[in-house]
Amino acid sequence: MSFLNWIFFACFVYLSLALETPNQNCNPNDFSALREFAGQLLNGSIKSTWFNESNCCQWNGVVCEDGSHKSAASRVTGLNLSGESLRGEISESLGKLDGLKVLHLSHNFLEGRLPLNFSNLKQLEVLDLSHNMLSGLVLGALVGLKSIQSVNLSSNSFTGNFTDLGVFPSLIVFNISNNLFTGELSSKAWRLAAHLSSICHADFNSLSGQLPDSLYLLSSLEQLSLSANNFSGQLSHKLSKLSNLKTLVLCGNRFSGSFPNVFGNLTQLEQLVAHSNSFSGPLPSTLALCTKLRVLDFRNNTLSGAIDLDFDGLPNLCTLDLASNRFSSPLPESLSSCQELKILSLAKNNLTGQIPASYANLTSLIFLSLSNNSLVNLSGGLSVLKHCRNLTTLILTKNFHGEEIPKNVSGFESLMLFALGNCGLNGQIPNWLLNCPKLQVLDLSWNHLDGSIPSQIGQMENLFYLDFSNNSLTGGIPKGLTELKSLMSANSYSSTLNTSTGIPLFVKRNQSASGLQYNQASSFPPSVLLSNNKLNGSIWPEIGRLKQLHVLDLSRNDITGTIPNSISNMTNLETLDLSYNDLHGSIPSSFNQLTFLSKFSVANNHLEGAIPTGGPIP
Ligand SMILES: *[C@@H]1O[C@H](CO)[C@@H](O)[C@H](O)[C@H]1NC(C)=O
Ligand SMILES: *[C@@H]1O[C@H](CO)[C@@H](O)[C@H](O)[C@H]1NC(C)=O
Ligand SMILES: *[C@@H]1O[C@H](CO)[C@@H](O)[C@H](O)[C@H]1NC(C)=O
Ligand SMILES: *[C@@H]1O[C@H](CO)[C@@H](O)[C@H](O)[C@H]1NC(C)=O
Ligand SMILES: *[C@@H]1O[C@H](CO)[C@@H](O)[C@H](O)[C@H]1NC(C)=O
Ligand SMILES: *[C@@H]1O[C@H](CO)[C@@H](O)[C@H](O)[C@H]1NC(C)=O
Ligand SMILES: *[C@@H]1O[C@H](CO)[C@@H](O)[C@H](O)[C@H]1NC(C)=O
Ligand SMILES: *[C@@H]1O[C@H](CO)[C@@H](O)[C@H](O)[C@H]1NC(C)=O
Ligand SMILES: *[C@@H]1O[C@H](CO)[C@@H](O)[C@H](O)[C@H]1NC(C)=O
Ligand SMILES: *[C@@H]1O[C@H](CO)[C@@H](O)[C@H](O)[C@H]1NC(C)=O
Ligand SMILES: *[C@@H]1O[C@H](CO)[C@@H](O)[C@H](O)[C@H]1NC(C)=O
Ligand SMILES: *[C@@H]1O[C@H](CO)[C@@H](O)[C@H](O)[C@H]1NC(C)=O
Repeated sequence: MSFLNWIFFACFVYLSLALETPNQNCNPNDFSALREFAGQLLNGSIKSTWFNESNCCQWNGVVCEDGSHKSAASRVTGLNLSGESLRGEISESLGKLDGLKVLHLSHNFLEGRLPLNFSNLKQLEVLDLSHNMLSGLVLGALVGLKSIQSVNLSSNSFTGNFTDLGVFPSLIVFNISNNLFTGELSSKAWRLAAHLSSICHADFNSLSGQLPDSLYLLSSLEQLSLSANNFSGQLSHKLSKLSNLKTLVLCGNRFSGSFPNVFGNLTQLEQLVAHSNSFSGPLPSTLALCTKLRVLDFRNNTLSGAIDLDFDGLPNLCTLDLASNRFSSPLPESLSSCQELKILSLAKNNLTGQIPASYANLTSLIFLSLSNNSLVNLSGGLSVLKHCRNLTTLILTKNFHGEEIPKNVSGFESLMLFALGNCGLNGQIPNWLLNCPKLQVLDLSWNHLDGSIPSQIGQMENLFYLDFSNNSLTGGIPKGLTELKSLMSANSYSSTLNTSTGIPLFVKRNQSASGLQYNQASSFPPSVLLSNNKLNGSIWPEIGRLKQLHVLDLSRNDITGTIPNSISNMTNLETLDLSYNDLHGSIPSSFNQLTFLSKFSVANNHLEGAIPTGGPIP
């Protein structure tokens, strides 16, 4: 062999080794299964890297067992391809990866069905397919997964009848929320799954029927979440056996009857979310023994009797929502010992008496709604609540009937939303309210307020929703109203009121209508609502500066003069109501620039000429 030949030979051997060595580290069966899997995908960042490297253990997202001390090639034990923009269907070849323990494919665009030989993955312990577009029957494909501990199928379109749930001897975590599962949690199904020991999410499916007794055998369960299904019937006293529960979420079903008074045994409980069912009877008194409780939400049921829990036992309570029930009692005095309380809603009950002086100690409070009760003494109540310095949302609508609105109050530096409508209050719009520096939403509608609108209102930098409608206000519309900063320029009213609590906010209801519901304050449309008062004078042409205004309602007053041309500059207007006034002249033809306008009325004035055409005006 010549030297040159020897060099070539050496290079050949070296190259062969270089190509061979990595292959020894990757099981050829797993190599071809993964290639096939990738080959069937339409897209995904893995395609470019997987196809020019022969050791599959080096591939992006692939984890192999440590095979260095063995002669055999390493098996693939983990595949983590979450959020890799994978598109297309999952190949059957995945079923060949029978050494796989962990499979993460969440947050991709995978579609189609789960291949049946998925059930070959006898060693699989963790399966996360959440947030894809997978569909079809799935429970059958899972039946063979003898080692499975954690299943997350949430946010796909999987279907199947839950009655057929298989055997999962070592299951700990089971999350099937946001799919299309149907059927009952039959007693049989849960007996088969009786080792399920930690988490069960079944939110947002169409599961129905009563909860079977076998469910209450899952004594290691820490989280049970069944929201937004069609479950019905009464909960059993056997609930007491789930003594490790930390989170119990039952909201949005049709559960009924009294809630079993078993909380003496559920001392680990941190969250009980049971809103929007038909639970009746009293508030379970043993709840006061759940010292770790942070969230208690029974909103929108038919509970009755007194709110008489011993709140001294609940020092960690952060959210208490008992709104929309039939409670009738005074406000619970002992609540003041809940120093962590941030969100309190007791609206829509029949609570009586005054706001207890001890509530001045609720200094963490951010959100308070007591609307729609039979409370008295507004003046006393405000002098208590002014000590809650972090309060941003205060809703007292429909209480204090016929009282006087207090003139001298201080505090409320943090207040962003204040609703005191429908109280039949007497008096005038108080100055202290217009001095709350952060106020964004103000509702004083449906009272008997008289006097004029203070001109200093124009200095309220953040106000973007103002409702003074249905009062007896007199005088002119103050020019200050045309200077509201947050209605003049975009991005100033924005969504700084980000106290999204998940609690629906109700405002603007008259005696009959059920009212508008906003899920958070920042979703209120920028509005100036002054209808049904005794306002006179004319409309300032400067009103055209309020370019961010969506709703302008000046109807049912005694407003005179002509309609200013400048209104056509308010290009975000959706509703413009000037009806039932003493306006004269014609409707400016430039109104056809108001492209978003969907409600428009100038009826019952003294206008002449035609309604402009060619624009959006209906
Ligand atoms: C492997 O793929 C990457 C990404 O496409 C590319 O940058 C690289 O040049 C390739 N390497 C080989 C040896 O083909
Ligand atoms: C999966 O990979 C992503 C990014 O590569 C990483 O952030 C994530 O922690 C990994 N997940 C697991 C369970 O290994
Ligand atoms: C494929 O994925 C890449 C990045 O992950 C993305 O930029 C591209 O738009 C995708 N192509 C198709 C056809 O979906
Ligand atoms: C998966 O199942 C199909 C049909 O049931 C079969 O043809 C195929 O060989 C199986 N693949 C694996 C990897 O088991
Ligand atoms: C899937 O569900 C489990 C259990 O609820 C959870 O721990 C995991 O974070 C979820 N995965 C994703 C991607 O959200
Ligand atoms: C689920 O299966 C059971 C038994 O096979 C059947 O009685 C029930 O009607 C099915 N439910 C649905 C919603 O398909
Ligand atoms: C817990 O439950 C058991 C039976 O389920 C009962 O005997 C016991 O009194 C309960 N404990 C409390 C504190 O309620
Ligand atoms: C109240 O609960 C019922 C079901 O019991 C539901 O249909 C309704 O939407 C809920 N209302 C609110 C405001 O949550
Ligand atoms: C509210 O409670 C008062 C006093 O207890 C009672 O007179 C009234 O009828 C109750 N109202 C409603 C709507 O239940
Ligand atoms: C507020 O709490 C303190 C002790 O934390 C107590 O001394 C005081 O009496 C309480 N104030 C009211 C008005 O209840
Ligand atoms: C009030 O809010 C401020 C700022 O968010 C916070 O630092 C403070 O701890 C709050 N006070 C109470 C009593 O929660
Ligand atoms: C509309 O606004 C523009 C610029 O802000 C202004 O020049 C114009 O005079 C306004 N039009 C009317 C009719 O007020």
